[in-house]
Amino acid sequence: MNNFLEHELTPSQIVNELNNFIIGQHEAKRAVAIALRNRWRRQQVEDKLREEIMPNNIILIGPTGVGKTEIARRLAKLSNAPFVKVEASKFTEVGYVGRDVESMIRDLVDISVNMVKTEQTELVKSKAEDLADERILDMLIPPVKKPVTVQEGVEEQNGNDESYQNQKTREWMKEKLKKGEMNDRMIEFDITQPAVGMQIMGPLGGDDMGINIQEIMSSMLPKKKKKRKTTISEAHEIIAQEEAQKLIDIDAVQKEAIRRVENSGIIFIDEIDKIAGGSSKSHGPDVSREGVQRDLLPIVEGSNVNTKYGVVKTDHVLFIASGAFHVAKPSDLIPELQGRFPIRVELRSLTEDDFVKILTIPQNALLKQYSALLDSEGVTLTFEEGGIREIARLATIVNEQVENIGARRLHTILTTLLDEILFDVPDQNKSSNYVIDGKLVSDKLDTLVKNRDLSKYIL
Ligand SMILES: Nc1ncnc2c1ncn2[C@@H]1O[C@H](COP(=O)(O)OP(=O)(O)OP(=O)(O)O)[C@@H](O)[C@H]1O
Ligand SMILES: [Mg+2]
Repeated sequence: MNNFLEHELTPSQIVNELNNFIIGQHEAKRAVAIALRNRWRRQQVEDKLREEIMPNNIILIGPTGVGKTEIARRLAKLSNAPFVKVEASKFTEVGYVGRDVESMIRDLVDISVNMVKTEQTELVKSKAEDLADERILDMLIPPVKKPVTVQEGVEEQNGNDESYQNQKTREWMKEKLKKGEMNDRMIEFDITQPAVGMQIMGPLGGDDMGINIQEIMSSMLPKKKKKRKTTISEAHEIIAQEEAQKLIDIDAVQKEAIRRVENSGIIFIDEIDKIAGGSSKSHGPDVSREGVQRDLLPIVEGSNVNTKYGVVKTDHVLFIASGAFHVAKPSDLIPELQGRFPIRVELRSLTEDDFVKILTIPQNALLKQYSALLDSEGVTLTFEEGGIREIARLATIVNEQVENIGARRLHTILTTLLDEILFDVPDQNKSSNYVIDGKLVSDKLDTLVKNRDLSKYIL
């Protein structure tokens, strides 16, 4: 299986890639790019020294909706790394009710296993489909000598030779199957079911068990076969999936999944400021907050975590924490944890100009999304420059007046702006071309924006 580290991106390549999706926030992009590269560099260092080099974990600091999560998510995507986002506030100290911090590693492994499985399934796909074709054919026209009712139009020279005839019919049927002519016919077939849906809960709740008892039990019990009746096309899909599962070497998948987590996993810890207990308040939930931080230490520093797929070493997992830090400050984290997150980057609030760019430039820009949505109805939606500028301007105003929710404001503004078009288009379709210009935007939204009470609810 391929080794990602061999074609690890350079920092400037990473920033360039991120620029396709995220506007501004250059410092944060640089920081994550360096951190990703440093992880790779650290892995190249000889053992003894490597242990001395601290991992380059990052804290992203900034208000809501300015791209913190988005940067981390994109970083993971472009490096094809297993990625999980967790909320720091969901965790509790070991022994309390709630999730223990090690579960983030288990989640990451689960995601990695799914990633690798999907890749492997893709590789065996065409083979699995061929096998599914054969199995369906066997059901329709069993291959052995059993007498077959010969379909009309296939009477042949060697009519008495049963197996020859059978062969011919199978070929003819195969052709029909391939062309999809049989797709809507019903067929009954066996599927192998995972044995009995048994729920076993551990003392800490299902997700916190290092070893999945359920899986062990079900692998000991015999697999159950179950009859199903569906259309041939659906059967083909189900059977192809089953065949693919058989073709995949699940042990190899799990090994590779763990290797990827250990070498390239990224964990995004959101709302880390919520567990930074201000030391002034000395009792109550703060005790457990600090406990969570202490539990985090070994994982961030590098330790072995048991998962149902095996032991995972967390030494090279990259941690990106994020928070608004309005009340608590990074210095309110326990000193040991501060040391494990040596890189701090602040993200800026977004400006009107940023909004104009966010609306138009990213590959997944909102305006492109809406145009594509309406395009599916045969309607062209065009945004004029004046219209875009006006949307950005109003978003900035509402952010200032009501609450600054960053780029998320663009979503609410656009849904309100396009509400009528989105509702009317399928029935009325009176115009197959809508142009959004500055006047249209202000006509539709100005009164809403000026009325603070209304905009609180709607925009
Ligand atoms: N700088 C940006 N460039 C492009 N899109 C952005 C930018 N900032 C935010 N967005 C868009 O806004 C949405 C919210 O951003 P994101 O999830 O990154 O917020 P966040 O900073 O993590 O906020 P929170 O603190 O609430 O988690 C995303 O869908 C993203 O596409
Ligand atoms: Mg976020």
